[in-house]
Amino acid sequence: MTTAPDHAAAGGSGLLTEIDHVAIAVSDLEAAITYYSDTFGATVAHRERIDSDGVEEALIKVADSYIQLLTPTSDSSPVAKFLSSKGEGIHHVGYRVADCGRALQAVKDSGGRVIDEAPRPGSRGTTVAFVHPKAAFGTLIELVQE
Ligand code: CO
Repeated sequence: MTTAPDHAAAGGSGLLTEIDHVAIAVSDLEAAITYYSDTFGATVAHRERIDSDGVEEALIKVADSYIQLLTPTSDSSPVAKFLSSKGEGIHHVGYRVADCGRALQAVKDSGGRVIDEAPRPGSRGTTVAFVHPKAAFGTLIELVQE
């Protein structure tokens, strides 16, 4: 008699249900959109300016996930600081979670560092919270609840 493998233990992603988006910081949003359109035939699924974060985004859908092209709308935006220190490139990874508050608490409980102490509104009507890259192997993580 064989035993079915424990998929949850072998390859489950725990509180992370899907990749929501990979965010790419760009200095020229229109040029980046044109690049994805001309090169890959990709079109923008959603566009939004989030003044509280000082950014404008264009989402390109890839299956059930997005590429989030992100550009600063003010010099004090964290994305503006990122561009001036590191240049264009991958800025953060957004993981979909069923419950942003619960996932954020799990980060705190495990001794992780958070940027947002509590979940807050994100784009597309989502609820989000950011985890500090210094305690997450150099990657800024966004927890996204739809
Ligand atoms: Co994001």
